[in-house]
Amino acid sequence: MNYRHLYHAGNHADVFKHAILAQLILHLRLKPKPFAVIDTHAGLGLYDLGSAEALKTGEAADGIVRALDAAMPAAEPHLAIVRGMNAAGGLSVYPGSAAVARSLLRDDDRLIASELHPDDHRTLRAQFRGDPRVSIHHRDGYEAFLAFIPPPERRGLVLIDPPYEERDEPARLGAALVAAMKKWPTGMFAAWYPVKDRTTLAPLFAAVDGAGFEGIVAEFIRHEENGLRFAGSGLVILNPPWQFEATATAIQTELRDALGAPAQPPVRRLRV
Ligand SMILES: C[S@@+](CC[C@H](N)C(=O)[O-])C[C@H]1O[C@@H](n2cnc3c(N)ncnc32)[C@H](O)[C@@H]1O
Repeated sequence: MNYRHLYHAGNHADVFKHAILAQLILHLRLKPKPFAVIDTHAGLGLYDLGSAEALKTGEAADGIVRALDAAMPAAEPHLAIVRGMNAAGGLSVYPGSAAVARSLLRDDDRLIASELHPDDHRTLRAQFRGDPRVSIHHRDGYEAFLAFIPPPERRGLVLIDPPYEERDEPARLGAALVAAMKKWPTGMFAAWYPVKDRTTLAPLFAAVDGAGFEGIVAEFIRHEENGLRFAGSGLVILNPPWQFEATATAIQTELRDALGAPAQPPVRRLRV
């Protein structure tokens, strides 16, 4: 396990993912009944943007730094969380998925997070210690979330955000989504992927396109694709809220304008 998210915290892919995550959780909050958020690959929770790792790549400069200076109404719930964790006008920490999710929980909602890297798991656990709504597991995220669903609340969201260190990650993710939809057909699932060489993503889309799932695919492309470099990222969202395409498109467009990114692929529905 070599991947450390601290090198990438707050980059354009994070802003896109976390702005969508915040909107999905806000949708769950529309009803009073409690929900569970399951974060399978949770990372650190809070990322120190002044750390040697974050400064080495400087990736936040082309992500959250510019987003905070832009007008982004659809991304505002996420940006408000980032602002709320920093001193006025400053940006020293960036909240990752677990911190974004926790900040949107109500008293009876829950966050269940898995993180397999021993150091990151320890950091995450220490950060959230004392919050009875949060449980942190040192477990393989795929194996754990399939065991956790459906949660007793029967409402909720699973974020699957693996590191793509292994070549078979897209196939593993596709198989996990198919297994998850069998166990919890009404659960909401958001699965992240990097856009680099699209041929490597074929096993993921072979599993979810044509499977009969209700779902959308939303991407943010930062750089023209050449098949070699990290060009952007996407999310497969199963059982999204009604008309969520419009929200995802708004976030995509706002980020495109904030960063001066190229034309974006339309948010699409999964083939049934
Ligand atoms: C892309 S990062 C997650 C970022 C985080 N979700 C966020 O948005 O802030 C992937 C994380 O998965 C962890 N990881 C790698 N393999 C794992 C596994 N099998 N189960 C759980 N976590 C794993 C890595 O240590 C890393 O922190």
